[in-house]
Amino acid sequence: MSMDQFPNIAIIGPGKVGTAIGILADRAGLSVLAVAGGSDAAADAAATAIGECASACSVTDAAGAGELVLITVPDDRIADLCEQLARRQAFAPGTIVAHCSGALSSEALAPARDECCCLIGSMHPLQTFPTVEAAVQRLPGAWCFCEGDEMAVACLEKLAEAIGARSARIAKAGKPAYHAAAVVACNYLVALMDAAARLAQQAGLDRQTWLAAVEPIIRATVDNVSAIGPEKALTGPIARGDIQTVRRHLDTLAGADEGLRRLYAACGQQTVDLALRAGKISAEVAAELTAMFRRSEPGRP
Ligand SMILES: NC(=O)c1ccc[n+]([C@@H]2O[C@H](COP(=O)([O-])OP(=O)(O)OC[C@H]3O[C@@H](n4cnc5c(N)ncnc54)[C@H](OP(=O)(O)O)[C@@H]3O)[C@@H](O)[C@H]2O)c1
Repeated sequence: MSMDQFPNIAIIGPGKVGTAIGILADRAGLSVLAVAGGSDAAADAAATAIGECASACSVTDAAGAGELVLITVPDDRIADLCEQLARRQAFAPGTIVAHCSGALSSEALAPARDECCCLIGSMHPLQTFPTVEAAVQRLPGAWCFCEGDEMAVACLEKLAEAIGARSARIAKAGKPAYHAAAVVACNYLVALMDAAARLAQQAGLDRQTWLAAVEPIIRATVDNVSAIGPEKALTGPIARGDIQTVRRHLDTLAGADEGLRRLYAACGQQTVDLALRAGKISAEVAAELTAMFRRSEPGRP
């Protein structure tokens, strides 16, 4: 499929991801014809942002207008919306229907396949988009993980290429674990940075000063993991087997809130496992650290 034969696109769900894919697809010369969903004002605004060819319409009309229909509504609404549209025969046979959820597989769109002879797929961009502008900026370069019917996947891979993203395949059954991995890497990193800031505040540091001061070490850590992998990138007291230092941390954390204590011990244990796997500490040191973390669990004497 060359780019000039690329199917006409309709977008249902004029939010961050839908609008941004529409804008980038239009810039790439693909035709985004219809935008629907949310309030009329939101669909109008998204259509205007996407380009001259795009017009706002009803959800049913959008489902019928696109040869590729992207359903970019919140995850919890995808299956219901698709089922309603399929029941009304809103999709023409042969339409490619896809969503952008990380956790759901294309099976959430099964009614479109079963009742309207559509091809179904999913394409999840592994990036975080707090705003449309951020999505327009960060979709290019992002990895998009695709699965579904072969023709749908081939089309989504072309779409990813057109918007400057990279594509890769994921097994249908792997989607929940894949999404859990994305949540750990992205959302939990944010929660970890917040926990570190609260600990720094316990040390008497101003939160904003800490957040500014910690930025270089966070960036260097991410760079190191990318360049040489987690096993080689790991430094610090656990990797060195400095048991007394870890004991001092646990002593000072005894006065911290329960959540921070649990977090320190749980991440500490993951770090011990990694350090052992990387050959940085002996099994004896690992066992001693593990016992210390267990003893530190809230509720233990
Ligand atoms: N944002 C991210 O970081 C990100 C990253 C990767 C993948 N994704 C995936 O992309 C998809 C969209 O996420 P998003 O962040 O773009 O969401 P969003 O900004 O909240 O946009 C969702 C849009 O869908 C509309 N909508 C809700 N229910 C609808 C319905 N029943 N019919 C038609 N339109 C409806 C909403 O309108 P109202 O506002 O009026 O309800 C809104 O315009 C999700 O599957 C998400 O998992 C998001």
